[in-house]
Amino acid sequence: LRRGRRAPDLAGRHVVISAGGTREAIDPVRFIGNRSSGLQGYALARTAVARGARVTVVAANVALPDPAGARVVRVESAAQMRAAVLEAAADADAVVMAAAVADFRPADYRDSKIKKVPGAEPEPIALVKNPDILAELSARPRGDQVVVGFAAETDDVLAAGREKLARKGCDLLVVNEVGADLAFGRPDNAAVVLTADGAETPVPRGPKEDLADVVWDLVVERLEPRPA
Ligand code: CTP
Ligand code: CA
Repeated sequence: LRRGRRAPDLAGRHVVISAGGTREAIDPVRFIGNRSSGLQGYALARTAVARGARVTVVAANVALPDPAGARVVRVESAAQMRAAVLEAAADADAVVMAAAVADFRPADYRDSKIKKVPGAEPEPIALVKNPDILAELSARPRGDQVVVGFAAETDDVLAAGREKLARKGCDLLVVNEVGADLAFGRPDNAAVVLTADGAETPVPRGPKEDLADVVWDLVVERLEPRPA
């Protein structure tokens, strides 16, 4: 499992990692957001740098110091993340979507702060779907570019993961179980990495770097060898 750990097996490669969670503005002071901290994405960035890669991180609302040696592009919304990821992905050998991308955004942005109206209940906020960046990356002609997704699931985690891997069309899907005190904001993580060929790689609970290194091992196996 650890055979590739910290070997310079990503030297000469460009990898793109999305991290954090997008925010979808409602009005100038409010947004719809999520609990993603960016810790897993930043662990992927640090380990990729350690393995010799050129690393671009597209970070949405991450309150962590920049990973040393990586280029960090800061975004806020899903639309901004899509543009930044697609641009960086153009020459990438691998793209890992570790970010929590908001599924929906307010249908219309209010230029002025929404105010309380005495005696009246608030208007509902209509939502529309955001573009699915991972599905879009997976559907493009991409040679041997490896595309990796993450899925946080409850209930039948593996069945949900298999279904999602097939639906999205990515090469690898990292599935972890979320719940009250699992995953979010914690330095450790447990997961199963599902691959399009049907294999499952369980990763026991441990530092997010350990999971990151397993992801890079599986990515490296799927890259075309480079002439020395
Ligand atoms: N993702 C994405 N664009 C979106 C939503 C999700 O690129 N608009 C990516 C995430 O970064 C993650 C993967 O898709 O790598 C799975 O996200 P998830 O929320 O689990 O999948 P969804 O298709 O949104 O399904 P669900 O209804 O379970 O939220
Ligand atoms: Ca989602």
